[in-house]
Amino acid sequence: MATGISLAGKTALVTGGGRGIGKAIARRLAEAGANVVIASRKLENLQATAEELSGLAGRVVPIACHIGRLDQIEQLIRETESQLGPVDILVNNGATNLGQGPSLDVTDEMLDKMVDVNIKAAIRLVRLTVPKMIERGGGSIINIASIAGIEPQPQGLLYSFTKAGLIMMTRSWAREFGRHNVRFNAIAPGLIQTDFSEYFWKNEDYVRNLQATQPIPRIGRPEEIGHAALYLASDEASFVTGQVIVIDGGMTA
Ligand SMILES: NC(=O)c1ccc[n+]([C@@H]2O[C@H](COP(=O)([O-])OP(=O)(O)OC[C@H]3O[C@@H](n4cnc5c(N)ncnc54)[C@H](OP(=O)(O)O)[C@@H]3O)[C@@H](O)[C@H]2O)c1
Repeated sequence: MATGISLAGKTALVTGGGRGIGKAIARRLAEAGANVVIASRKLENLQATAEELSGLAGRVVPIACHIGRLDQIEQLIRETESQLGPVDILVNNGATNLGQGPSLDVTDEMLDKMVDVNIKAAIRLVRLTVPKMIERGGGSIINIASIAGIEPQPQGLLYSFTKAGLIMMTRSWAREFGRHNVRFNAIAPGLIQTDFSEYFWKNEDYVRNLQATQPIPRIGRPEEIGHAALYLASDEASFVTGQVIVIDGGMTA
């Protein structure tokens, strides 16, 4: 889809870029000319996605990485820089959801994993990419949060707290780095049809209730998040930082 937005010459890194929302974001960025690394645990899936997205204006490069592990994150940045150069656009999209259920059943193991993948990964990736963005005159970081980080998700203590944390980190970083032209924004999706949210969209009662109460009475599509990410990544959003763009069909309105 032509938008007039150009990211030619930019390097983007999208965690969890092999499927779902991350794939839709990678597609939009590559269509606009960015060279994009997609990173997650399953290399085979990443390779299939890179193949599917080949032929766009920018290259799509798959790199395997468990974002909950510091050594793998450091290796991801080394490989990204050697293949495509320093990162201009970082999309912290990869996430996990453990411990859905009664909060008293949450174990230390679930807590640690949720913090490692949903919180620490973003902090580490920012630490490893932002200094070079500052040196180069700017950059854009997009954190994929959730409306669960704004309104508590029933039976979702860990998911809600990690997404709320990501939103506050976004605002905090925005204040710190605005003067360096490094912008931080979050996107908070409502229910989007992906593997991650299958538990909800396969539940007929949940979908019936959504259709009865949500102003736009349907489940969202990954590309509806991709469009917003493209805007936030681009110079068209040069005065936008520290914001949370809610894309939820009006669910939280
Ligand atoms: N779908 C929704 O309704 C919805 C709503 C609000 C927010 N979100 C957020 O949107 C983002 C994308 O979710 P999605 O719906 O597109 O889900 P998805 O299709 O299941 O994608 C999740 C991605 O994260 C990667 N990932 C998971 N654990 C990882 C790890 N330890 N290391 C590296 N990569 C990992 C997965 O790849 P591998 O399995 O290959 O590692 C996958 O690419 C998440 O942050 C999610 O919280 C989704």
